Amino acid sequence: MKTRVVKAFGDPEQDREIMEEAGEIIRSGGLVAIPTETVYGLAGDAFNPDSSRKIYEAKGRPSDNPLIVHIARLDDINAVAEDIPEAAFKLAERFWPGPLTMILKKKETVPYETTGGLDTVAVRFPVNKIAQEFITASGGFIAAPSANVSGRPSCTKASHCVEDLDGRIEMIIDGGEVGIGLESTIVDLTEETPCILRQGYINEAMLKDTLGTVGREAADSEHPKAPGMKYRHYAPKGKLTIVKGKASDVARRINELVREHEGRSEKTAVISSHEHMSMYKDCRSLVCDIGSLQDEDMIAHRLFALLRELDDKEAEYIYSESFDTPRLGEAIMDRLYRAAGHSIIYAGDH
Ligand code: TXA
Ligand code: MG
Repeated sequence: MKTRVVKAFGDPEQDREIMEEAGEIIRSGGLVAIPTETVYGLAGDAFNPDSSRKIYEAKGRPSDNPLIVHIARLDDINAVAEDIPEAAFKLAERFWPGPLTMILKKKETVPYETTGGLDTVAVRFPVNKIAQEFITASGGFIAAPSANVSGRPSCTKASHCVEDLDGRIEMIIDGGEVGIGLESTIVDLTEETPCILRQGYINEAMLKDTLGTVGREAADSEHPKAPGMKYRHYAPKGKLTIVKGKASDVARRINELVREHEGRSEKTAVISSHEHMSMYKDCRSLVCDIGSLQDEDMIAHRLFALLRELDDKEAEYIYSESFDTPRLGEAIMDRLYRAAGHSIIYAGDH
């Protein structure tokens, strides 16, 4: 299959022709990769079981891992979910359109192929203009997981989608780099107490501020409610290890480790905050500046692209500092821990 890559601008006039074509692809059961404010998504018709099957195939994703249904009008929540609790409307009012996904009881009309066999459905109303135009042009209901091939870092620009999906889908809409760079926060609203299943840009404090009590699923849960959370994810090809501790201890330990690898001529890389770059000045290996600890949005925005760049550079061993920043630290570290397969070293006394 030939994959067309086309540009869109978030302007309905300019994008009209592209959106008509993309909508036609979706209505006839095909797949299109699209930008959203979080990461690129791989879109198909949410009500067409064949489209959902194709999504799993194109991503190489296990079919028990459900897809998120994307809508572009608040009212449309009623077409995919039922028994919707008041909390959902409160969250929608404050955070939609935006990077928040809600788990609700599904309507019978949503195929099990889309929900991975579950009686619940994940719903999100993205704020990205191109995504909204596209969803509307496609009939209003789009199933879309992140556009990466299963297990790889999520796509934050169109070129990442080309790397992963060229030849497997009909079209990739290039809307430039995404804004946030981490997938949406997922909140389960099917139980008594709302529960965070995946950390994201909308953090726990913001949710508590709106709902009062909010639970969270244990990070090491063996049977996570979001099936996707049990798979190793975001993994670069090299062996990634996170080194934790006081900055000076972390830098000393990483420098030692890197020297050992250099001695064996192994390609090694370091992920450092901007502030700590000078601590690695004696490294002959690649030292990557992920951004300033004062600018956590940038760290979130850069993370997945950086992991992909390290693949391109064929880094065999990667050591990363941890980035426990106040607002997005949990979401960033959730992705980084997964990428590292939870391989962590503690430097110094702790
Ligand atoms: O920001 C995002 O959410 C992006 C963009 C494209 O919207 N999408 C995304 O989709 O990250 P995906 O498929 O990579 O991650 C969706 C997660 C998976 O962990 C999946 O298991 C979980 O949501 N999920 C989907 N439906 C669910 C359900 N009914 N119950 C529990 N978890 C669900
Ligand atoms: Mg994903």
